[in-house]
Amino acid sequence: MPEHLAGLPMTVRADGMPERVTIYEVGARDGLQNEKAIVPVEVKAEFVRRLLAAGLPIVEATSFVHPRWVPQLADAAELMADLGEAGRHLPVLVPNDRGLDRALDLGLEHIAIFGSATETFASKNLNRTFDEQFTMFEPTVARAREAGMDVRAYVSMCFGDPWEGAVPIDQVVTAGTRLLDLGASHLSLGDTIGVGTAGHVGALVAAFGEAGVGTDRLAMHFHDTYGQALANTHAALRAGITTFDASAGGLGGCPYARSATGNLATEDLVWMLTGLGIDHGVDLDAMVATSVWMAAHLGRTSPSAVVRALGAAG
Ligand code: HMG
Ligand code: MG
Repeated sequence: MPEHLAGLPMTVRADGMPERVTIYEVGARDGLQNEKAIVPVEVKAEFVRRLLAAGLPIVEATSFVHPRWVPQLADAAELMADLGEAGRHLPVLVPNDRGLDRALDLGLEHIAIFGSATETFASKNLNRTFDEQFTMFEPTVARAREAGMDVRAYVSMCFGDPWEGAVPIDQVVTAGTRLLDLGASHLSLGDTIGVGTAGHVGALVAAFGEAGVGTDRLAMHFHDTYGQALANTHAALRAGITTFDASAGGLGGCPYARSATGNLATEDLVWMLTGLGIDHGVDLDAMVATSVWMAAHLGRTSPSAVVRALGAAG
């Protein structure tokens, strides 16, 4: 049977591509934070377990933010307790000292702070000015590092902002390097509203390189609002990026940026990487089955083209 009829694309390696990519799965956090429905905690735990079983190396589990700001993830502590020992190794979002205290109480090992490249989104998402966000993160990162935790830092609105429009590349580099200077180990550069295009991706990665931040410390976090997420991923692969955030079934968005629709779907990413002969370690059938199962819980179909194609075939 031809490979694509067996649920996999034909593999043809292209020059200038990495051998291996790390997929950082954000569906349980970035996906579920934006759902109208509050998913029961036991369904979330099952979701995380299924994502890990599908071979994903990193599964971001939830957020320790203010429950009034993101009620969908108010059950973060219960979820991590349900996940037990497996949960201790999974990253969680933490914006401040209060969130860190909650993560430390549970013995978690990885946190992710989330800064904004723009003044307006810092205010809408964190209730802080652009400068105040770093003041908020500073003691949190210091304490987390002292406790032996790894700290990832997201930068949101790297390619455009719904209130401010175009975001200058040097402003994004300033935000990112300030987060690294606080002690974050890696940056995830977010196209929060999905407006980026391929040339812009190359220019942003190059600008970080000129500022001394190599591709080994960068991940890309694309949203598919305008259908550009895979094209942008391809451009980032060519620029040397080897870590990509993606969300099972394309779940997601951001509750504080209304124009943010789904994240790049993990299944769409896996299909493309497999076709390019890039190792990723993820079982596509298991992912599709998981996303079909989660879509049934949410009462709607997945926006992922690969989930729709393979889910319908299965
Ligand atoms: P604030 O109201 O300024 O908080 O919110 P505060 O520091 O003034 O504290 C007010 C009260 O909240 C205090 O309680 C604190 O203890 C409590 P009181 O003394 O009045 O009883 N509090 C907390 N409780 C539980 N957990 C906490 C916490 N912090 C304070 N962590 C804050 C500031 C940052 C907390 C708020 O703005 C917030 O929670 N924001 C989160 C928004 C969010 O989660 N957005 C979605 C994630 S970002 C995203 O999706 C983008 C990304 O995916 C990348 C991309 O797509 O580009 C990452
Ligand atoms: Mg996102």
